[in-house]
Amino acid sequence: ANQQTVPRLLAGKKVIVTAGGTIERIDPVRYITNDSSGKMGFAIAEVAKEMGAEVHLVHAHTDVAPPAGINTIAVQSADDMYKAVLSLWEDSDLVVKAAAVADYRPASPAASKMKKSGETMKLELVKTVDILEQLGKAKTSQFLIGFAAETNDVERYAKEKLQRKNCDLLVANDVTVEGAGFRSDTNIVQVFDKHGLVEQMPVLTKHEVAKRLLTIASARMQGVLS
Ligand code: CTP
Ligand code: CA
Repeated sequence: ANQQTVPRLLAGKKVIVTAGGTIERIDPVRYITNDSSGKMGFAIAEVAKEMGAEVHLVHAHTDVAPPAGINTIAVQSADDMYKAVLSLWEDSDLVVKAAAVADYRPASPAASKMKKSGETMKLELVKTVDILEQLGKAKTSQFLIGFAAETNDVERYAKEKLQRKNCDLLVANDVTVEGAGFRSDTNIVQVFDKHGLVEQMPVLTKHEVAKRLLTIASARMQGVLS
């Protein structure tokens, strides 16, 4: 990690960070997941802690180990992640939803290993809970940050998601661009609020993205616009 000291902008704040890609079971040995590495969420959790926050990290499947010294809850599915976040939600100040949550899950996961039979098979999927959307509805004083990974029309989709999920900030990245996205150590993001673009960041390490993002969030949580 990074040895530089960071201003304690989040001292006394309770922060929930979600990270990684959820795992949606097909049967006991098979599942559906996605390309999320967990690195962006882990960087946010680390920096929030450096800034003095009480950090709770809820993570699903990741490529790397979670940072040491942070309260961590490991989960699998979107449903598990929702329950874990709700258990921490009430007195939280800031929630950062960096996890890549599956949009659909198998309708009826098999209790024992499925056997092969015909030449084709169909897997029925049903929608998962949209955690961020539910939090957006339940929000009282929490500051909510959503993420969006897009391949096209980044700004349009980012604004639409920010509104639909009642987020305070939405961090969008174009995953088709070199140096951005899922498994990379760097990211190129645009931060939006309900009025539009707040900050367009150059290519930065995920740690630096986390620092800048949490600096913007902490200023806004104190009612200072930046
Ligand atoms: N999210 C969530 N629960 C879901 C799906 C998404 O909490 N079931 C959150 C993600 O953690 C992220 C934000 O919503 O912070 C945007 O996720 P994204 O997949 O980009 O948006 P969707 O609304 O699922 O739209 P789509 O996948 O169709 O682009
Ligand atoms: Ca999605």
